[in-house]
Amino acid sequence: MDGNVSARWKTVWITGASTGIGRELSLQLARGGVRVAASARSREKLEALAAEHANITAVPLDVTIAADAAAAHARISAELGPIDLAVLNAGVWDQMGADNYDAAQAMRTMAVNYGGAANALAPLLTDMRARRSGHIAIVASVAGYRGLPKSIGYAPSKAALISLAEVLRLDAAPQGITVSLINPGFVDTPMTAVNKFPMPFMITAEDAAARILRGLERQKFEIVFPWSLALPLKILRALPYPAWFALARRLSGKM
Ligand SMILES: NC(=O)c1ccc[n+]([C@@H]2O[C@H](COP(=O)([O-])OP(=O)(O)OC[C@H]3O[C@@H](n4cnc5c(N)ncnc54)[C@H](OP(=O)(O)O)[C@@H]3O)[C@@H](O)[C@H]2O)c1
Repeated sequence: MDGNVSARWKTVWITGASTGIGRELSLQLARGGVRVAASARSREKLEALAAEHANITAVPLDVTIAADAAAAHARISAELGPIDLAVLNAGVWDQMGADNYDAAQAMRTMAVNYGGAANALAPLLTDMRARRSGHIAIVASVAGYRGLPKSIGYAPSKAALISLAEVLRLDAAPQGITVSLINPGFVDTPMTAVNKFPMPFMITAEDAAARILRGLERQKFEIVFPWSLALPLKILRALPYPAWFALARRLSGKM
């Protein structure tokens, strides 16, 4: 992929770029000749990333703050040029179930995962609608397909993002905006490093970023991987509720 990505995009904005998938996406795009605006809260990590490649600019922000997202969008457009592709990737994961439910924590997860995308969307849509061009990619998860055990904060936030991308695909396409939905399975990043449960078919962040860029290059709507995990989950998604709940209860015994 490196070296082949520059044709479609000149300027790309990536949120959640300080670690994991977003960091790898930034590096692979930068090596392909694309100007990358890398955003997250950790200024030092972003500056270290920017030091790795001249095409990367650190643009720190907290995605839960709408004014931060608007200011970042304005700065990137002014300094790097119009944003051709935005990958709304910032996210947090917490293992929580009905037994240790904490409403404030669930709301924090929703504020980052869903609210972060919603905040970035506001300036992006205004700008891309005016230009009648641009590509918005939303990073959700296969965990948003169905309610999952011990994911009482995370799964609803990812289900909301899947719905958001579907709505956007319908509403924004007629205005010249391309929309993609990225649904990764397990990826080896700081996010999953805390998990004690089995994570089948886990792939590296490098591999995940390459798969995402291939899908975005082809302007696919859903970019989902790896298929060894995604296919069974897609089939399970279509199961009637009684069958799904019976299976999910068995799974939850293993978590
Ligand atoms: N890893 C997986 O198995 C997996 C599977 C499916 C989906 N995903 C999704 O993929 C995305 C990237 O995850 P990852 O695995 O690469 O995890 P990660 O390494 O933990 O990266 C998460 C990124 O989000 C940023 N972030 C968190 N809160 C933020 C905030 N309030 N404002 C701005 N940035 C914020 C973090 O940076 P700061 O802390 O510096 O702000 C970090 O750069 C997430 O949306 C995640 O849900 C991951």
